[in-house]
Amino acid sequence: MTAEQSGQGLPPRATDAQGRRDNDIITFHTRKWVKPEDLNPNGTLFGGSLLRWIDEEAAVYAIVQLGNQRAVTKYMSEINFVSSATQGDLIEMGLRATSFGRTSITMTAQVRNMITRQMILTIDKIVFVNLDQSGVPAPHGYSEITYDRDRVPTATLPAVPPRD
Ligand SMILES: CC(C)(COP(=O)(O)OP(=O)(O)OC[C@H]1O[C@@H](n2cnc3c(N)ncnc32)[C@H](O)[C@@H]1OP(=O)(O)O)[C@@H](O)C(=O)NCCC(=O)NCCS
Repeated sequence: MTAEQSGQGLPPRATDAQGRRDNDIITFHTRKWVKPEDLNPNGTLFGGSLLRWIDEEAAVYAIVQLGNQRAVTKYMSEINFVSSATQGDLIEMGLRATSFGRTSITMTAQVRNMITRQMILTIDKIVFVNLDQSGVPAPHGYSEITYDRDRVPTATLPAVPPRD
């Protein structure tokens, strides 16, 4: 059994110009502009807004990696609000899969200021579970990160009625 199959983490790959292993590199995709409605009474970015954005970002990442729109958040590890953002800040969110399980994918997340690169939030571990048509965990069959759109599901799925 490989490291990927056992969910022990993806094996190291190439290094970049700074000597970082590929596994350590997070690609930042979605950017947000912090607006008045995103603030808490302290005048800084409301944690709930940030968590909503990162959960949505992680859901899209899971869908792209697992090729299934029916992927749900199962678990989030400790969330570290490292520093605050304020109105007008441009922030960016990054995710990276750290392991593929049988029905799950585990990823790590970072949010940082787009200009200064100051870290705003880190989440070590976010787990999404791949579900079948009935909403039951199902094997996804993947063990490697895709950097293309080759797994993106093309059909929109009907909603699953809640289970008892
Ligand atoms: C997702 C859900 C169907 C999984 O049900 P379950 O009974 O835990 O399923 P399983 O025990 O088969 O576990 C499924 C996978 O999740 C992983 N998992 C379960 N609990 C976990 C936890 N606490 N931490 C990390 N991974 C966990 C398992 O290891 C398994 O992964 P693997 O197959 O890759 O090894 C169920 O928990 C659920 O419906 N949760 C609500 C999801 C939701 O609504 N999310 C939105 C949040 S608001």
